Amino acid sequence: MGVVEEHDGWSDVRGMAVRFHLAEGRSTDLVSMTLPVFFAPTPKTFLDFARKARPARCRRETPWEKIKDYLRLQLPMPDPYPGQTERPNEGAIAFANDHFWAQAAVLDASSIGAPVSYVRADYHAVHTFVVTGKEGEKRQVRFTWAPVAGILDTDPLKPPVDAYLQDDLKKRLAHGTERFTLMMQIGEAGDDFEDSTRQWPPHRKRVMMGTLTLDHVPEDQQALCEKLSFNPWHLTPGIDPSGDPVLKIRKDVYAYSSNRRGGIPCPFSGAKG
Ligand code: HEM
Repeated sequence: MGVVEEHDGWSDVRGMAVRFHLAEGRSTDLVSMTLPVFFAPTPKTFLDFARKARPARCRRETPWEKIKDYLRLQLPMPDPYPGQTERPNEGAIAFANDHFWAQAAVLDASSIGAPVSYVRADYHAVHTFVVTGKEGEKRQVRFTWAPVAGILDTDPLKPPVDAYLQDDLKKRLAHGTERFTLMMQIGEAGDDFEDSTRQWPPHRKRVMMGTLTLDHVPEDQQALCEKLSFNPWHLTPGIDPSGDPVLKIRKDVYAYSSNRRGGIPCPFSGAKG
């Protein structure tokens, strides 16, 4: 949440972007993260949230403060990691106390943990998309990558280890493959299709769409990873964005950012990146 420093072993949200290469040179992107919901329902409210959730100085709560938190049915603040001097948690939690729609994401993000491996976490595309079937029927859906190896976080009571996620992936893929299952949750009348702060009921129908198999980590991380640009609006016919205003704004934001950093042109955004 807003901290520029990267620490594999710290509790934080991780992302995964996948491009499906289809027939006749077509492709479609799926951009996802380990939180199942977003922090705000609109770009304006997200900006308000981001301003309040700026990283600020943090300190370890005393045992007495922790007991007081429990008595107030509040989760105590996590202890700062060795060397950690600031974090966005305090600001984010204060904001969530005043804005109910931020609560699910802030609670999840504050307690999310660190995965033992990139392939031991689930990744959610968060927004609703509209898929069209063979007969022209339309369904509002949400996508999630479920790890076949299962979800597992590091032990939060042990000191965090750093820079292990890339090595872990290389080691795993040197000996075999790792897989994710793409799950499509189908929305029903009454579900929120345009607000990604709101989860759908857990018993919604889920369809298993296929398997993603990882078999190697490219050596050239710059050219084959960092330089690529994805866009949640880069979609093949048959998958359309919903009217979610946060999804709407991501189209131009990603194209702008990719352009600025010299990302490899996204075919969707007129070969400009
Ligand atoms: C208002 C909301 C959001 C804004 C303004 C935003 C902004 C951005 C920007 C500027 C980039 C860099 C794009 C590039 O240079 O190619 C990015 C990347 C990314 N975002 Fe978002 N984002 C938002 C919401 C989300 C959500 C809801 C998800 C997950 C569902 C997400 C997941 C990711 C991932 C995984 C990447 C890395 C993609 C890559 O490797 O190219 N973002 N975001």
